[in-house]
Amino acid sequence: MLRTTKTGRMAGRDVTRVGFGAMQLAELPGRPAVDRETAIDVVRTAVELGVNHIDTAGFYGPGTANEVIREALTPYGDDLVLVSKVGAVHNGEGRVLAQRPAQLRAQVEDNLRGLGVDQVGVVNIRSVQHGRTGAFTVPDDQIVDLDDQLAELVALRDEGKIGAIGLSSVDADQLRRALPAGIVCVQNFYNLLHRADHPVLELCRENGIAWVPFFPLGSATPGSRNVLAEPAVLDVAARLGATPAQVGLAWLLAHDPSTLLIPGTASVGHLRENVASVLVELDDPAMAVLDGLAPAIAAG
Ligand SMILES: NC(=O)c1ccc[n+]([C@@H]2O[C@H](COP(=O)([O-])OP(=O)(O)OC[C@H]3O[C@@H](n4cnc5c(N)ncnc54)[C@H](OP(=O)(O)O)[C@@H]3O)[C@@H](O)[C@H]2O)c1
Repeated sequence: MLRTTKTGRMAGRDVTRVGFGAMQLAELPGRPAVDRETAIDVVRTAVELGVNHIDTAGFYGPGTANEVIREALTPYGDDLVLVSKVGAVHNGEGRVLAQRPAQLRAQVEDNLRGLGVDQVGVVNIRSVQHGRTGAFTVPDDQIVDLDDQLAELVALRDEGKIGAIGLSSVDADQLRRALPAGIVCVQNFYNLLHRADHPVLELCRENGIAWVPFFPLGSATPGSRNVLAEPAVLDVAARLGATPAQVGLAWLLAHDPSTLLIPGTASVGHLRENVASVLVELDDPAMAVLDGLAPAIAAG
């Protein structure tokens, strides 16, 4: 029996449980952007395969991911949910924080122009509080109260420039504090091998908030354990006739019903595999092995 459904809910909309993350289409540290034709092909193929949840950011490039999405998909279909994030910009050399409310507003305006829309479906605030800085350094003038950031996004939602508000890289206390603003999704680093944020996932599930893990495959980021190289994942994949990526994604889908995926790829072949992961059935022995890769948290 299939453990997962093909659609989930976010911001009151039906979205495919496997969406698409556009970060891999832009230049990344250590590698140039993929060629434009390939990038457009990937995005168009995603939508042809039924994907209607696409994650992007103005600082992917800068501007590259949004330009590709616009070129590939306009006129946009009514059921497409475009999700972007604010809190950082690309200064020409790399990504730097831009957390102040006026900076968040400017980034929303930049996304509206880049994507060619009147409203961005969902906008996530990329928080850097509580040590969740990722690759960012945090100058003093970038330590901003979350309430002030939320107030700006609520104003943007009231103005109709964004459809809904999400958060990224938050802990459970921050999410609890933000709930009155009407949070529709949370994007945190989480995958089969990295489950430290399980309490945040649980809070999302309790509150009907979509849980959208980033780095669902461990990404290509140095220092991040890669799901695709994990021996237990390779074993399960070989036994079930699936690919390692499909096993990693299928586990996330089976693990929690509020999870929506946005795996990133610059390859049409990988995209097809990832979208098909919703059809991969992990049997009980497979789930037991995969759950056991992070036993303390899997039990929680
Ligand atoms: N909120 C945030 O702060 C935040 C942070 C980071 C990312 N994100 C979002 O989350 C999305 C997902 O993260 P991500 O793209 O960094 O990481 P990911 O989805 O964990 O992994 C992407 C990496 O896996 C490879 N890959 C993808 N599908 C594959 C397959 N079927 N087989 C083999 N390799 C495969 C990709 O290479 P190929 O191109 O060769 O397939 C790429 O190197 C991003 O695209 C972005 O939209 C959000």
